[in-house]
Amino acid sequence: MSHQKFRPESLMMSHGHHASDAQGAVKVPVFQTSTFAFRSAEEGKAYFELAYNLRDADGEEAPGMIYSRLNNPNLEVVEQRLSLWDKAEEGAVFSSGMAAISTVMFEFLRPGDLLLYSSPLYGGTMHFISEVLAKIGIGAMGFRAGENADEILSRLRAEGLDRRVAMIYIESPANPTNALTDIEAMSLMAEELSHPGRPVLTVVDNTYMGPLWQHPLELGADLVLYSATKYLGGHSDLIAGAVLGSRELVQRVKNMRTFLGNMATPWTSWMLSRSLETLSLRMEKQCRNAQLIARFLSNHPLVERARYLGLLTEADGEQYEIYRRQCLAPGAMISVYVRGGEKEAFAFLNGLKLFKLAVSLGSTESLAQHPATMTHAGLPPEVLEEMDINGQLVRLSIGIEHPDDLIYDLEQALERVEMAIEEVAAL
Ligand SMILES: Cc1ncc(COP(=O)(O)O)c(C=O)c1O
Repeated sequence: MSHQKFRPESLMMSHGHHASDAQGAVKVPVFQTSTFAFRSAEEGKAYFELAYNLRDADGEEAPGMIYSRLNNPNLEVVEQRLSLWDKAEEGAVFSSGMAAISTVMFEFLRPGDLLLYSSPLYGGTMHFISEVLAKIGIGAMGFRAGENADEILSRLRAEGLDRRVAMIYIESPANPTNALTDIEAMSLMAEELSHPGRPVLTVVDNTYMGPLWQHPLELGADLVLYSATKYLGGHSDLIAGAVLGSRELVQRVKNMRTFLGNMATPWTSWMLSRSLETLSLRMEKQCRNAQLIARFLSNHPLVERARYLGLLTEADGEQYEIYRRQCLAPGAMISVYVRGGEKEAFAFLNGLKLFKLAVSLGSTESLAQHPATMTHAGLPPEVLEEMDINGQLVRLSIGIEHPDDLIYDLEQALERVEMAIEEVAAL
């Protein structure tokens, strides 16, 4: 029989843990400790030499445990397991998605650099770019999600900014519109913008699709980022983040993490590794549910438009082509534009019984929120308008409940929209 390479879902229960190292425990114990005892002073010295890159590892020599801000068995197990999904050489896990994003930007950007980003972005990331990076002289230029690489390049050249670009940062699909950006085309543009000694990195926030439904590293990205609070954690009970990529780049990110001190704790790491065991089960069920719900919503008379990757057709042109090339499944995030405006959208949200009215996404329970007044409320009105984030828009994150119950819930809440429309007509 030929050798079978085990798939990530088969390895989530065991990878990186040896029962013999933990008195036979099948599960990784929680290593709730801040520091680790060295067997000798020489051993402590050797561990620090490797941790601080003072010399190369000797043959099979592995870095030893020192202090939980640098490393911890729970952190290492979850990093090794996470790396399998994106076929990454190495992973780094953080105390939040924002910690992962900000650490990557601090490590690879310098004053005077320009960050090129797809727009819209998650509101917190946008705030970090426009308020924090701007304060230290790092410039930023947005491009519309889906904008063609040639158009972006000529805009950069026309403004004389092309030699300043140090990173292309992409969120695809965009939160909350589901607009897609071509990751492969952006990676090629990054190569074209790179110059000797100064590579331009392509970094992708894959929170909406990963790690099952899109693999940015295979499409040419250098680093992939996650808010692990979402699908990876999957139960709305932890906050965490992750960065994956080549050993060389992730090592640099880990060094920066050591001095910012924003790694995940042993307990959060343990919770995440437990969540990873059911990741594919949860995400597959969420995606099946979302496809049924998107079909229901797109045919409902009180829904003006539903944006869901699974509803794209050839008539959507380039967006459909990117979807076919780039995504392995349509995901579980649906943007619904209800008829009317904010009043009707609020009537819909207030009428939901099973969906929770809450921000965040990717969890076992279904969630609904209003981007224009909630997650994206900080964006200027002209940006909201340009991005199609208006009063009608409700963002749904689909969970693992029975699909018929979710559809019933949406249907009865949409009746509230009808009542709101009738009230307005009676005025
Ligand atoms: C796409 C995306 N990226 C990053 C983040 C930030 O992650 P966290 O809340 O874990 O810091 C979020 C949070 O909602 C998000 O939606």
